[in-house]
Amino acid sequence: MDKNKKIKIEKNGPYRVSGNIPLEKEFVVPDENNNPLSWQKGEKYKTEEEYCLCRCGKSQNKPFCDFTHQKIEFDGTETASKEDYKQQAENISGPGMDLMDASNLCARARFCHRHGGTWDLTAKSDDSKSKKIAIEEACNCPSGRLTAINKKTGEPIEPEFSPSISITEDIPAKASGPLWAKGKIQIEGADGSSYENRNRQTICRCGKSSNKPFCDGSHIENKFDDKV
Ligand code: FES
Repeated sequence: MDKNKKIKIEKNGPYRVSGNIPLEKEFVVPDENNNPLSWQKGEKYKTEEEYCLCRCGKSQNKPFCDFTHQKIEFDGTETASKEDYKQQAENISGPGMDLMDASNLCARARFCHRHGGTWDLTAKSDDSKSKKIAIEEACNCPSGRLTAINKKTGEPIEPEFSPSISITEDIPAKASGPLWAKGKIQIEGADGSSYENRNRQTICRCGKSSNKPFCDGSHIENKFDDKV
């Protein structure tokens, strides 16, 4: 973990990103049934060593902050647990793999819906095809709610990410999605204490999550659109 790479949450304000963290668009690609299937990268943003990303959802210069949070008196109070993932997650055992599930981290990205769902696939993971799809689905979960676990070693199966932030767009849900912080970027709360460094984390940029700073899927019912 590179301690210089950090997302600092400003009290009732933006995310202050430091350490030259790359920023790019990333789109949810649906399958023929409009279920999320994979991710596709989009444009890269030109950024400085430090930049501020909108957290209230109302900037006229998204994804960057333009101080609209002050005008609208944004309440960005953090409500998420600072417990480690292992403490928050339920352990689900399958014949060929295990699954960890921390449901309160769900960003409703829905990669877990295909082929009967990741939980059913885990239950059938003595079948190699079911196991392969369950691992793919868990690895595509942007919030890291779901983690596939190697049955033999007990180790998590994680996609390899270097530190970066994606501005997600959920095409099948017709909504702009959260910021996807990848590669164990440190997230520091407004009170100076940090959340656990996880490989995959989704943080709210619509301003409506009830689990701030993390996304709870509220951008979908609020039809968050980041076009200004
Ligand atoms: S971006 Fe998902 S709840 Fe705000």
